[in-house]
Amino acid sequence: MKSTAKAAAHPNIAFIKYWGNQNHELRIPANGSLSMNLEGLDTQTTVSFDTDLDQDQLVLNGEIVGNEALDRVSSLLDRVRELGEIKTKAHVLSENNFPTGTGIASSASAFAALTLASITALGLCLSEKELSQLARTGSGSASRSIPGGFVEWQAGTDHDSSFAETIAPQEHWDLVDFIVLISKEHKKTGSSQGHRIADSSPLQKARVADAKRRLDICRKALLEKNFQNFAEIVELDSNMMHSVMMTSDPSLYYWQPATLEIMAAVQSWRSEGLPVCFTIDAGPNLHLICPAEASQAVKRKLGALVNVKSILTCTPGGPARLLEPEITGV
Ligand code: PMV
Repeated sequence: MKSTAKAAAHPNIAFIKYWGNQNHELRIPANGSLSMNLEGLDTQTTVSFDTDLDQDQLVLNGEIVGNEALDRVSSLLDRVRELGEIKTKAHVLSENNFPTGTGIASSASAFAALTLASITALGLCLSEKELSQLARTGSGSASRSIPGGFVEWQAGTDHDSSFAETIAPQEHWDLVDFIVLISKEHKKTGSSQGHRIADSSPLQKARVADAKRRLDICRKALLEKNFQNFAEIVELDSNMMHSVMMTSDPSLYYWQPATLEIMAAVQSWRSEGLPVCFTIDAGPNLHLICPAEASQAVKRKLGALVNVKSILTCTPGGPARLLEPEITGV
């Protein structure tokens, strides 16, 4: 017997970043974070629990995947099976509409879509909060891809208190995120490993102690649509996370010369009055955020930079959503 569901989710870009965990197993983060879902980028995942299977199977963008990626998916499915009180294995088919190998992290959208699809395939019905908690155990940032729009993830202290919620709907602020690709290389050290070594940096304690202040400033600037205050705190937060990365053991250097070149260009454009700021995740590529009114001007400026390989354009996105429930019983 087979029971199938298909769900979709957007990745998200964090304005206040998640880096380091209180509990690695459950991915309870060291600090709260705040993000925007990215309309334009999508992961679509179909989960079929099938009594004929003797192990979980994962097909990612048309390729059969095993080892670590499959183990991580199976761990999330184990939690779902425990909730559904079944042992049936599943076939997981996951597709990103953005090119793989572009260095864009897809674990947030992947685990959000996987969570919603697998829960639905078993005929279970969880609240948004419960879905966010569950998605978090697969990839921390996936907790933020369950709710829609602008989202805050409360760090909490345990499984029940650590989840993400919408703080403003996607229509709240017409922001544009230009994802500026300067390298298509896969990152050498993924975020799961990065979170594990965050505490080895002497700067992490100070970064975490100051997180509530940054979150308060960012949330206020976002709710008031005050771009100047927003820009300054978003860049500071990204720089603080990268300072921790660079000073952890072993040190992680995600920036490349072109990353720094564009960071400096963005700050100079802003000082000339163009409302735009940068934020950078665990890789060399940049996200340039600006209000929609400034997007044409920012695009023109970017067009003049020689190191830019390609640009993806995103706007605020909605929540994880169900595409196909097709339940025939397990
Ligand atoms: O959810 P993870 O383990 O992929 O970690 C995400 C880490 C950053 O993208 C660097 C920051 C963030 O908050 O999204």
